[in-house]
Amino acid sequence: MQEFNESQFLVETQVPQDELIISRTDLQGKITYANETFCEISGYTLEELLGKKHSLVRHPDMPSSIFANLWSTLGEKKQWKGFVKNLRKDKGFYWVEAIISGVYKNGVLIEYKSLRYPISYTNKLEYQILYDRMREDNKEAKRRVIYE
Ligand SMILES: Cc1cc2nc3c(=O)[nH]c(=O)nc-3n(C[C@H](O)[C@H](O)[C@H](O)COP(=O)(O)O)c2cc1C
Repeated sequence: MQEFNESQFLVETQVPQDELIISRTDLQGKITYANETFCEISGYTLEELLGKKHSLVRHPDMPSSIFANLWSTLGEKKQWKGFVKNLRKDKGFYWVEAIISGVYKNGVLIEYKSLRYPISYTNKLEYQILYDRMREDNKEAKRRVIYE
């Protein structure tokens, strides 16, 4: 197994302004489609993504209440929009604004889809601080950077 050190978690990948990061999941949240930009930004090949749970790219800095809110919004047949910090395969990160909604066929929910856009530096800073505070309030894991 490959070993990671803390420093790898500190490297940001920039999301291009002119490309969309797209994925779709089945009703259990397993990836059924990802576009080329998704693969590039997350560092995974399409083969590595297909059939995996979307939480594969969940970053430990994300508070669990954000995803609870996502799933309850989807359960109400509404579109969810939010700022998400995602984890790359190499443990680096990228920030996006995600828009997630159900895909309906003849009124029946068949899949979920997500489009993601780049966000501003100010939003990254604001949401990093907000999510740190939310995790602390909920006694969730704290990010630690160890200097030796
Ligand atoms: C279409 C779709 C796209 C999603 N995209 C992401 C994503 O980019 N990053 C992420 O952490 N979770 C995403 N999720 C939510 C995950 O399914 C999951 O709820 C979340 O990662 C928390 O995982 P956990 O409950 O296993 O901790 C997405 C869900 C759906 C339905």
